[in-house]
Formats: sequence, C-alpha cells, structure tokens
Amino acid sequence: HGTSKINAKGHLEIGGCDVRDLAAEFGTPLYIVDEALVRQRAREYVDAFRASGLKFQVAYASKAFSVMAMCAIAEQENLSLDVVSDGELYTALKAGFPAQRIHFHGNNKTPEEINMALDANIGCFVVDNFIELDLLNALAGEKGKKVNVLLRITPGVEAHTHEFISTGQTDSKFGFDLGNGAAYEGIKQAAELANLNVLGVHSHIGSQIFEVEGFRMAVDRVAAFAVQIRDELGLTFQVINLGGGFGIRYTEADAPLPVSTYVKAITDAIISHFTEAKFPLPEIWVEPGRSMVGDAGTTLYTVGTSKDIPGVRKYVAVDGGMTDNPRPALYDSKYEAVLANRANDPKEETVSIAGKCCESGDMLIWDLELPKVQTGDLLAVFCTGAYNYAMASNYNRIRRPAVVFVKDGEASLAVKRESLDDIVVNDVIPARLQKSGA
Ligand code: LLP
Repeated sequence: HGTSKINAKGHLEIGGCDVRDLAAEFGTPLYIVDEALVRQRAREYVDAFRASGLKFQVAYASKAFSVMAMCAIAEQENLSLDVVSDGELYTALKAGFPAQRIHFHGNNKTPEEINMALDANIGCFVVDNFIELDLLNALAGEKGKKVNVLLRITPGVEAHTHEFISTGQTDSKFGFDLGNGAAYEGIKQAAELANLNVLGVHSHIGSQIFEVEGFRMAVDRVAAFAVQIRDELGLTFQVINLGGGFGIRYTEADAPLPVSTYVKAITDAIISHFTEAKFPLPEIWVEPGRSMVGDAGTTLYTVGTSKDIPGVRKYVAVDGGMTDNPRPALYDSKYEAVLANRANDPKEETVSIAGKCCESGDMLIWDLELPKVQTGDLLAVFCTGAYNYAMASNYNRIRRPAVVFVKDGEASLAVKRESLDDIVVNDVIPARLQKSGA
C-alpha cells in the first residue's frame, strides 16, 4: 500500500527508498514514515468534508504520533491539531503550528498547562469536567481573556472495532455524561461563566472502529441534545466535534471503510437532523489520529538471534520490541511483516518474532510465515505509524529508534536515534551517594 513496493533487487522500497539503504544510513530499529501516504490521508478527510458542503475542521490527533515534522505536515495540509498535554502543545508550537488551530484535550489539565495554552492563544479548549470549567474560567479571567470551549460529553455510545454498545450511562473517566444530566448542567454552567465562549460539544466514542453505526448513533444523541439546549437554554451550538476512531487495516482480519464513507455518514446524519430541527448547520470537527498516520509507518528491524524448539516453535529475535511497539504486549495487537531484504523469496518457515527486552511478553508477532530467516536479515513490520513511537519507552534502558520521513527517493531524519548519553541525561547521583575522598 502507499508508496511501498518490492524493487528489482527483491528489497522492500518505501517512498522510493530501498530499506536496505535506510538501514545502512540510519541503523535499526528504524521508524519509516511514508510522507506521501500521510498527505494522501489528510487530503481524503479534507476532500470528503468539502464534498459535504459543511464548514469543518479536520484536527490531527497528535497523540498518535507527535513529532515536529508531523506537525509541520499537518500544518501544510491545512489540518488543525489536537493536543492532550504540555508536551504535545510544546511540540506543535515549536514546529510553528498556528495556535489558533490547536485544540487542547485531556481530563486533567494542570493549571500550568492551561496557562501555557492561554499564553499561546490556542483556538479551543475541550473541557472535560466541572472542576476544569471553573479553573479555566478563573485562569482566563486572570489574563483578561475569553476563550473558546467545547464541552466533552459522553453520549452513551461506545464503539470498539465491530461491536458498539449503547449504554444509558457510560462508566468512563472522560467527559460530562449525557444520560445523567451532567452534560446539560455543564453547558448551563459554562454559558454563565464570563470568560468562556461555548462553541458546542465534543464526543469521542472509541478507536479502531470499522462501522458507521456508532458514529450515527453519536450524532443522533448529540443532535437531540443540541436541540434541547437551544429550546431550553436558548443557546445554539456552532460546532460539533465527533472525535476520532476511524479504523485502519493492520492485517487481513481488519476491514476498515474508506475515509469518505465515515465522513459521509457523519455529515449526512448531521445535515438531516439539523435541517429537520430547523437548526443552523453547525461546523463539524473530527480528530483522526490512527487513520492519519497508522498505515504510513513501517518499523525496520535487524534479525539477531533465534531459538528453535523442535516440534514447538522457532523464536526469531529482532533488535527492538515492546520498547518501540508496546501494542502487541498491551492490547494483543496483530501486525504483518516481511523479510525486507529478500521480499520475493518463497516462504519456508513459520517463526515468532521476539523483542530484546527481559520479559517473556515481549513478542511482536506470533506465527509469521517467512523465508528461511538468517541473522542480519531485515524485518519490516507494517502499520506502525500510530501509537508506536508515541508510546515507545526506555524499558531496559533501550534507546528509542530514529524516525525518517521518506518521499520521492529522499529520506529525511525527523527524530534522531537516542544516544547512550540521552539515556542518562536526567540522572543525578545525589551527593550523599557519591564516594567521598575518592
Ligand atoms: N480524540 C480523542 C478525544 C481521543 O481520545 C482519541 C484517541 C482520538 C481523538 C484519536 O483516536 P484515533 O483516531 O487515533 O482512534 N493507544 C491506543 C489508542 C488510544 C486512543 C486514545 N484516544 C492504541 O494503541 O490502540
């Protein structure tokens, strides 16, 4: 998919770059991002919204992969940006991302984070709870500012891949509950706070969703709520944010819909509900993370050791693992991979790909069919663009890999590989632990 293909040498090539050359130049493990595919996904969202005729903002949920180069691409593609911490906000601002297009999320924003966002003049705060409403109002007031807010509501729709559950009251740490009246009370209070300008509401129903029904259901409930708020409080929502969650294809077992199908389901449902209620059509915002970058990422590893247990299994270990991709260990996530330096060779054995951490659960892929694997081979694991680098750790004091963006045969470093000095950069040996008189 994207710009990846197998070249005449039988090597995997992404963005016109032979991955063997990338391994030689940048080392492994290496995150490779297909820039053209990221841009294509961004345009699919923007084009689908344009086709609806509604006003919109497509905010890239930077939690999926927050690095300055990605923020730069999001900016160039006219996306907005969703951040959830001072670190993501700082990354965006450092990359020169326009603050007016930044939306700040999170269920426990600290006063310091709120002040930083206020000073930067970001476009919108997505307020999660009553305490934050008062805190934000007070802090904005201290600075003499009036800020745009959306209230995050929990609509009682929870979608996970194929199943979606409708619950009267959602047991979730996020947002103002629609079912128990908290959302109504939240809007009422927010409308009375002098330093807040209530634009509307936000709802996020889950992640890696393959069906449109969950989104339709969320729109049904949000639209009914908008009408209730207008009729009872005289307040008109200008913005409805429907969050992210659009699924991608990690393996054959996944069947996501095209981006345009999700968008059309949402915009059609909005248009029909709001037209029927004689309500001015709101601006629609979404926040895709995974679907913007997930399939554009590939992780390249070098094969090291292997262990064959006759009649049981063969383990093949690579030079990364749960430190650069914790998803299999955390969520039992499945990935596909190929031997990138011999991509055309016939598959001859079934192996399980292990990482190098001191932990049995550090497995990347079980039962993968590959050509006869040798030490020094390159393994490319696909669909690692979202929630991989973003969730990487230094467990076992393993260094985080480098990230390169590839396009038209050019590879550009986006994140340097961590050095051993980076590993100890924040370490301090307290004076009382230092050898005296040495
Ligand atoms: N908006 C809100 C409020 C969210 O909580 C999320 C994801 C998104 C947007 C973006 O959702 P996406 O389009 O990426 O599905 N670490 C997990 C995924 C956690 C998603 C959390 N929220 C994973 O690796 O699967």
